[in-house]
Amino acid sequence: MSIENATQVPSKVSVVSGFDITRIRADFPILAQEVHGKPLVYLDNAASAQTPQPVLDALIKFYQQDYSNIHRGVHVLSQRSTEAYEDARLKLQRHFNAEEVSEIIFVRGTTEAINLVAQTYGRSHIHKGDEILISAMEHHSNIVPWQMLCEQTGAVLRVIPMDDQGTLDMEEFDKLLSPKTKLVSVVHVSNALGTINPVKEIIKKAHSIDVPVLLDGAQACPHMKIDVQDLDCDFYTMSGHKLFGPTGIGTLYAKSKWLEALPPYHGGGDMIESVSFEKSVYAKAPHKFEAGTPNIAGTIGMGAAIDYLQSIGMEQIAAYEAELLDYATKALEQISGLRLIGTSPNKASVLSFVLDGIHPHDIGTILDQKGIAIRAGHHCAEPVMKRFGIPATARASLAFYNTHAEIDALVDGIETTIRLFQ
Ligand code: ALA
Repeated sequence: MSIENATQVPSKVSVVSGFDITRIRADFPILAQEVHGKPLVYLDNAASAQTPQPVLDALIKFYQQDYSNIHRGVHVLSQRSTEAYEDARLKLQRHFNAEEVSEIIFVRGTTEAINLVAQTYGRSHIHKGDEILISAMEHHSNIVPWQMLCEQTGAVLRVIPMDDQGTLDMEEFDKLLSPKTKLVSVVHVSNALGTINPVKEIIKKAHSIDVPVLLDGAQACPHMKIDVQDLDCDFYTMSGHKLFGPTGIGTLYAKSKWLEALPPYHGGGDMIESVSFEKSVYAKAPHKFEAGTPNIAGTIGMGAAIDYLQSIGMEQIAAYEAELLDYATKALEQISGLRLIGTSPNKASVLSFVLDGIHPHDIGTILDQKGIAIRAGHHCAEPVMKRFGIPATARASLAFYNTHAEIDALVDGIETTIRLFQ
């Protein structure tokens, strides 16, 4: 990966060497359509990213040739399905550099992964008066499960504040982290602001007083290489549909020591060694945490998405997106009356903004008429909106298949919106 001398290259062409945006876009058939008679400009990737053809092919192949239930069948189709399902687990293990393949638990997505930790680790390790530390920029999925746990146990939720740029206040973190803290659960990259949090520092400090750390990685893993051993996090969560895979599938990574010690989440088939009316003996991880028939196709699709990302390279993706974010930020900053929400120096490619006197929903509706898909609202992060004193933002969130020309279209669309309201 390299970024060459930008001044010698036209502004709308990537300078990341070897990054063939035309070839990449051809892998995403959905991008080649028109919406309202205009070329689709898809900038809602933080909500759900698009799916490349190899993932669609893997899903079709599975349903056309291999489809069957897993683990319990002796016939060929069941064996093929089981192999493909477990092979996806290996792909996830390697992609996130987990030490053991059994540390990868398949869940519906990040929300379920966090609820799983709340109801297993939380119910067994967090008691009345204990504290759970989250941050001021959490998605609702990293707030509500802990509030529910607090209601169940009498534990207390504490919040690390952030500054006006959307950067965490680490001095306050140091003050909040105490012997009462039983878990730190923070977002790696904010979906509403784009801030990349200093998670290694957080983990190091929490571990220095034996406090485990969960990272909500839903918005981080589409943009950067994640190495859970290097991070040394205890739990890492992600969603397949943000990672160019299907919906309804995701992963909880957890260190083996936790998976061995924790009780199961859901009870049912496939998570047991044996069952009698007197007693059930649970299977070992990962199966202990995967009750019932899982999302087999989704898992296989997510594995195919991992293969696809690795064929491009996460370092290449990160370099290209850094360039695109820089281009977009500079362009949006030029627009009079536009205020970026989330200006932390360490950001992923998310651009939340407000326009003077124009509601974000109106911005989203007008941009849609120009074929540009963004998101408008509180982005499931109401406390973030409150912190910035706004009801909502318009949010353009980028992926590695977006182009400089699409940023130009966004800027043009925002300028049209402003003119319409003058
Ligand atoms: N959590 C998703 C988002 O940020 C839906 O848009």
